[in-house]
Amino acid sequence: MESKQIRRTVTVKNEEETRSFGISLGRQARAGQILALSGDLGTGKTALTRYIAEGLGVRETISSPTFTVIKEYESGRLPLYHFDVYRLSDPDELFNIGAYEYFDGEGLCVIEWAELIEDELPPETEYIFIEYGQQEGERIYRCTF
Ligand SMILES: Nc1ncnc2c1ncn2[C@@H]1O[C@H](COP(=O)(O)OP(=O)(O)O)[C@@H](O)[C@H]1O
Ligand SMILES: [Mg+2]
Repeated sequence: MESKQIRRTVTVKNEEETRSFGISLGRQARAGQILALSGDLGTGKTALTRYIAEGLGVRETISSPTFTVIKEYESGRLPLYHFDVYRLSDPDELFNIGAYEYFDGEGLCVIEWAELIEDELPPETEYIFIEYGQQEGERIYRCTF
């Protein structure tokens, strides 16, 4: 997965800059887009998803879907399908929760821990690899788009 071609690297100094980045992603999001987020615990996958949701105009509070695997938000410009596949025990479960319908749907899918289901993701999936920077609050976003 790390061998995917990186087209753009965005470095932010603090969470406010992450917010700007996320809002711009949300504003630019297209129907049917799939955004795969990979990064260690605490790098800010859920935080970035919240800011993407803000950019989409989602009015509900985004809470981590760790236990439900997927949560839907319909109040924005596009439906947001927020996945956290960390606790998925078996990729077959993806089928049971209807993940492939979401992948083929007209909303924006944002998937935390996407590397765990890499083989199941459609070829048009766009990836963001998140890393900690040197200073507290810094993050590095490596994007395949
Ligand atoms: N630049 C930043 N971008 C995103 N989150 C940040 C940043 N700086 C600090 N944080 C903090 O890091 C934490 C990220 O947590 P979370 O989004 O739950 O991570 P993950 O979903 O990757 O486990 C939050 O407490 C957030 O406030
Ligand atoms: Mg998270």
